[in-house]
Amino acid sequence: MSVPEAIREFDGVDLASLADAYGTPCYVYSASHCRAQYEALSSALANTNHTICFAVKANSTLGVLRLFAELGAGFDIVSGGELARVLEAGGTASKVLFSGVGKRTDEIDFALKAGIGCFNVESVPELMRIEARARLLNRTAPISVRVNPEVDAETHPYISTGLKENKFGVPAAQAKEMYLHARDSDVLNVVGLDCHIGSQITKLAPFQEALAKMVELIDELQHAGIEIKHLDLGGGLGVDYDGTAGINVQAYGKAIAQGLEGRKLHFMLEPGRFLVANAGLLLTRVEYLKPSPAEGYKNFAVVDAAMNDLIRPALYEAWHEVVPVADSIDLSEAPEAAKLANWNLVGPVCESGDFIGHDRQLALREGTLLAVRSAGAYGMVQASNYNSRTRAAEILVDNGSHHSIRDRETLNDLLGPERAALARKDKADAQQSPTATPISGSSN
Ligand code: LLP
Repeated sequence: MSVPEAIREFDGVDLASLADAYGTPCYVYSASHCRAQYEALSSALANTNHTICFAVKANSTLGVLRLFAELGAGFDIVSGGELARVLEAGGTASKVLFSGVGKRTDEIDFALKAGIGCFNVESVPELMRIEARARLLNRTAPISVRVNPEVDAETHPYISTGLKENKFGVPAAQAKEMYLHARDSDVLNVVGLDCHIGSQITKLAPFQEALAKMVELIDELQHAGIEIKHLDLGGGLGVDYDGTAGINVQAYGKAIAQGLEGRKLHFMLEPGRFLVANAGLLLTRVEYLKPSPAEGYKNFAVVDAAMNDLIRPALYEAWHEVVPVADSIDLSEAPEAAKLANWNLVGPVCESGDFIGHDRQLALREGTLLAVRSAGAYGMVQASNYNSRTRAAEILVDNGSHHSIRDRETLNDLLGPERAALARKDKADAQQSPTATPISGSSN
């Protein structure tokens, strides 16, 4: 195993200076990379009338959403919170698709009032609830039914969604009944058909299979007098994490054009990872080295990022490349201090599952700055405060410029909501205490 080459700059910005300025751990996103990915996908689909709806779940930071809004992207959301983010970031409501199996009434109302482009409906009761809310609010609800195409995406079981055993979507036969109901409804407006088969798909075949099945279903629906205007094939376009090629976007574009040939369908897609994964990295510094003290022990490098910052390795055994950041420490001054070894990079969280990467050949010493690559998708969005760790800062770099787009959380951010709640409780207790009647009182 060879030592990975050091990285110095990201989108024209010196990473070591960035770490000094903003502290670690911190996420860094390249605006240029996001734009390049969007343009690559858009041009691969140039022959198809299409809308790219960024899956907000992959990275929901306002500064990132704004970038896609400026490119004219639509958005795929799964909650009222994500809708609020899209609107705040300047996204266009009519280009918003609302996916997810558990849309609450208040979220449906919010989306109806905002005038979103389409509800991707995942069950019969959800369709009924959307219809009832639309009637109550005197609105029309644009809908698409999410069909489970029963296609094996050949990806990690946790991120595979198009199989019978998954909770998502409905079978084609049930979808037809839902469309018939919607067709005859005064407040439901059938606009599309959608599916999503999984995530991190690097082969073309599963997409082609799903597309063929969807097109067939659209034809059947047409015969039943139901007109589908758009086909939404979901997201799932895989990227390169470890040197294995991601989806070939040109080939994807061609396959879509072929699959839709001769039809007037508008094509929608919901990529998340493809647009942002490799636009992001997580900067982290080595806190302590614990080289193996005896036979059978491992070499541990404890870094300042943990599973609460990036849970993908712990949750999916995901592999993220970790590279040293050039000039973070002048190793020429103390070459003997950097220990070249096979390191297990672990975080400070009290769990054995807390790791960033195992068996990494690196020359490390206390203070070495590392970049965890491909961390732009499902990184910060899955961060938590576990172990009462404050969440990292996020920095947007863009052709030489850098700005914080989310400041590092402070202890006040961490404690504030609890302090406020406890203060109310204490006040209420104080008002009640002298004469308060016990809830479960004394006997007789
Ligand atoms: N549309 C729907 C309905 C989805 O459920 C998803 C992802 C996407 C679009 C976007 O998929 P993408 O293009 O990003 O593959 N946390 C996991 C990934 C979970 C994906 C969930 N759904 C991870 O870190 O790998």
